[in-house]
Amino acid sequence: MRNAVRPVSREEILRQEEVARQIAARPDRPRSYHLITYGCQMNAHDTQTMAGILESMGMDAALTREDADLILFNTCCIRDNAERRAMGNIIFTKEIKKQRPRLLVGVCGCMAQQEGFQQRLNTRYPHVDFSFGPGEIYQLPQRLLDAMEGRREAAFRAGEDSTLYEGLPVLRSSPFFAYLTVMYGCDNFCSYCVVPLVRGRERSRALPHIVAEAEALVRDGVQEIMLLGQNVNSYGTDSDGPRFHELLRALQDTGIRRLRFMTSNPKDLSDELIAEMARNPAICPQLHLPAQSGSDAMLRAMNRKYTREWYLGRVRALRAALPQIGLTTDLIVAFPGESGDDFAKTLSLVEEVRFDSAFTFIYSPRGGTAAARLPGRVDPGVASERLARLNALQEGITAQVLSAQVGRRAQVLAEGSARRGSGQLTGKTERGIACNFPGTTDQVGQILPVTITAQGHNTLKGQQILPD
Ligand code: SAH
Ligand code: SF4
Ligand code: F3S
Repeated sequence: MRNAVRPVSREEILRQEEVARQIAARPDRPRSYHLITYGCQMNAHDTQTMAGILESMGMDAALTREDADLILFNTCCIRDNAERRAMGNIIFTKEIKKQRPRLLVGVCGCMAQQEGFQQRLNTRYPHVDFSFGPGEIYQLPQRLLDAMEGRREAAFRAGEDSTLYEGLPVLRSSPFFAYLTVMYGCDNFCSYCVVPLVRGRERSRALPHIVAEAEALVRDGVQEIMLLGQNVNSYGTDSDGPRFHELLRALQDTGIRRLRFMTSNPKDLSDELIAEMARNPAICPQLHLPAQSGSDAMLRAMNRKYTREWYLGRVRALRAALPQIGLTTDLIVAFPGESGDDFAKTLSLVEEVRFDSAFTFIYSPRGGTAAARLPGRVDPGVASERLARLNALQEGITAQVLSAQVGRRAQVLAEGSARRGSGQLTGKTERGIACNFPGTTDQVGQILPVTITAQGHNTLKGQQILPD
């Protein structure tokens, strides 16, 4: 049984802040940290929060892991290869520790929330000092103190997954762009997916907290916010609060220039949300809408709760409301039982929708998920061949989508120099496509009008024009 949602009290957050101050006052504390992040935007955002907490203890980022007093791995277990990469690097820190015995090593993120993982880490990898799951990020000061004082059982205490907390510091990686989590967890149990098992139940942050955070970001000069949740379309349904389209409306009033959000599960993509996307000038005409498969049989086995026709219907509705919308997707090939015919339906879906781009994956069985018990594993050679065919098809479509942008105008948020000294700035168009154009470094952080002049490989080239 998974835990019920547990709001973390203000007192508990204050207690952690007190522990952080205690650590900051100790002469034997770590002075520098190195955070290594795997996985999705949620993990990237969690890393920024943990960096904020570590800096509150007076620690600085170390450039390399070899220089750090503390190495913290924020792990992902969505597919086997993500897990293996992380485990290889975690094991390697044993070698670094031989040279520097005072180094502290921590493991957090989704792997740490898997059944039995922390106990295994504790007993089999004595060079690892502490571990906690993604629902326990706010406990970082206490876990670190437990590790420093050698309380190993406490430092590896197996975790709560469904906490809801507010008020942690965040160290953003850009002055102009910010992630903002609107909900945690997932209740969908797609049959292949480990996320509901490691990230816990869906819980939505209260709208006033989200709006206050967005207002603070706007005051700080942020131009673009990416709202995060595993299924933002079900925002508010767990607490009977305002729905996602109402949250978007409220966020427009903060004065934020650009809003994006991910991820949208097609089953919950409402007409109200599409109408809000068309109405609200802050929302970028871009949507990540994971299809996973074009075959109804596979969608059913994946427990996705929509059909190919439903998906295509949502795409038509989006394009009718926002003719310039750019759609991206996730696709899984070689799900158990996927026949050649099922796979052909995924190819035809891709041809029909014409996505701007797609993230494509070979199915990877995950312990504890329903699909891991399904018969009909697809031969690995066939799986690789399907992935290659799918990627080749999408690459051709991406090239055509980019070429159709040439000659058009776009608004690009200049994120930085394309390459140092190149005289080129780089950023994303409102549609979410990377674009390079001549500009000066004092323009970084501005939203600039450009004309698209050419296409590169997965990018566009542009020239600045005078604002309208
Ligand atoms: N919440 C998002 C997805 C998060 S995981 C959504 O529902 O769309 C990101 C992507 O990883 C998924 O969309 C899926 O395509 C892929 N994925 C998840 N589990 C997988 C598995 N076991 N094997 C292969 N790909 C997987
Ligand atoms: Fe996983 Fe499905 Fe939840 Fe996305 S919606 S995180 S794929 S269970
Ligand atoms: Fe990975 Fe966890 Fe994200 S499993 S994809 S880091 S939610």
